[in-house]
Amino acid sequence: MALGLYTPAPVIEERGADYFVAPHPEPRRDLPNLIEILLGARYSLIGDWMEGSYRSGLDQHRILGRQLLIVNAPELIKYVMVTRHQNFERKSPQMRRALEVLLGDGLFISEGETWKQRRPLVADIVHKNRVPSFGLTMEQVTCAFAEGWAERAGKEFELTAAMAELTAEIIAQTVFGRNLGSSAAQQVIDGFTSYQKSIDSFNLGYFLGWDEGWPILHGPVKKRAVKMVHSVVEKVINDHLAGGGDSGSMVDLLIKRRERSPELKLDTTALRNEAATIFMAGHETTATTLTWAFYCLANAPWVEARVLEEIETVCAGRTPTIDDIDQLEWCKAVILETLRLYPPVPLLPRQAREADEVGGIPVKKGDLIMIAPWLIHRATDLWEHATRFMPERFLDGAKVNPFVFFPFAVGPRICPGMNFGQSEAILCLAILIQRFRVRPRAGYVAEPVCRLTLRPAGGLPVTVEERVGRHQA
Ligand code: HEM
Repeated sequence: MALGLYTPAPVIEERGADYFVAPHPEPRRDLPNLIEILLGARYSLIGDWMEGSYRSGLDQHRILGRQLLIVNAPELIKYVMVTRHQNFERKSPQMRRALEVLLGDGLFISEGETWKQRRPLVADIVHKNRVPSFGLTMEQVTCAFAEGWAERAGKEFELTAAMAELTAEIIAQTVFGRNLGSSAAQQVIDGFTSYQKSIDSFNLGYFLGWDEGWPILHGPVKKRAVKMVHSVVEKVINDHLAGGGDSGSMVDLLIKRRERSPELKLDTTALRNEAATIFMAGHETTATTLTWAFYCLANAPWVEARVLEEIETVCAGRTPTIDDIDQLEWCKAVILETLRLYPPVPLLPRQAREADEVGGIPVKKGDLIMIAPWLIHRATDLWEHATRFMPERFLDGAKVNPFVFFPFAVGPRICPGMNFGQSEAILCLAILIQRFRVRPRAGYVAEPVCRLTLRPAGGLPVTVEERVGRHQA
């Protein structure tokens, strides 16, 4: 699609009898000019990378006089994300500005003492040991959702939104409790969706010299969206404080922690910010993972057949449960390969707190460092057939360098919900694919674009069909 002065790169997708080159923007051969950079960033942050960027290494760019370092070599990624974490823990001004009204000092964008104090608290609440206790909610919500699919069979709908509906319902019930009620849940989901649509992926102020970027103007739509989310979250917290609410929900765990650790001084606003952060961080990511997984499987029927065979062997016709996921190795490999090709958070921008040096290049205080799972997950010198969908690369206990494959980030800021998100994605995939064949509209090529998260541009039109026998391909 041409956008006036800017034309997005063509999308490459290829398939053969036993291979699928998953869709991606064609790498550029010439450097984009300033107008293309500015307009390109508004369209997608992953569309204009040069051919050479898809190799491991270190690249230095200048945008309006600002230095931007693209750090794409495992040992340098380790330096930024682990060794010098304290200097590079800070998110980019664009990300902080975009999310601060909704999340306040919530973990995703906090730093320094606040982050240090709150990280163990949030990490404990979404820790892998708690995943089994949330498993039943994941199963029940997905099975109820599948009933809706049975009614929609044969009718086209948009998959990203459908997956977001599913994962938002799961996270709403786990964060806020199972008795949240459908209208309150819908209010939070609608508020988040409307907020995400209204945020910008580029803060020009930073590149014009303001280290903190420009504050963002909040129009009535965004203000309404924030109010919709905050009012529900605050009500849930106040209900819990008054002795009501669902015990075992994440809000309930946060409140119990507050009682045990008064030194953390968690007031209602802090609780609200952390609950909203977990909700935001925990549903869109899993939803886009599932969307891309279904797209790739529909284009790689030989993988889909292995997945169905495995589910049949492990579950023998019954619906998969959370207890099965350790045995669902193909399902897990599909999710990992999807996260490699389509990391939901494809760019991890960091801002230097102090002057530093990365790979011999001096970094000034306030400079931006870009760590890009999108690039290193596709580095042609690190991955064989880097653009192909090949889940088998993650089978048989394959060991992958954590500085080459890190869809959940790496280092102290690694996603605390990693096990939750991964288990949820495997379980939802297994339950839905066992029962339904999901097919994108004939001839439709999904174009990956990124504003905050990586999604198919314009969504993914699909139809679903119920399988006659559960194990049929
Ligand atoms: C497939 C699913 C998911 C993916 C790919 C993912 C990815 C990520 C990434 C890359 C980050 C780091 C961002 C950065 O440093 O700039 C992150 C942070 C975070 N994620 Fe996830 N996430 C997923 C699911 C979840 C879930 C289910 C939860 C909660 C239940 C969650 C909660 C968080 C939180 C609270 C942070 C902020 C951590 C911090 O800054 O210390 N995520 N996630």
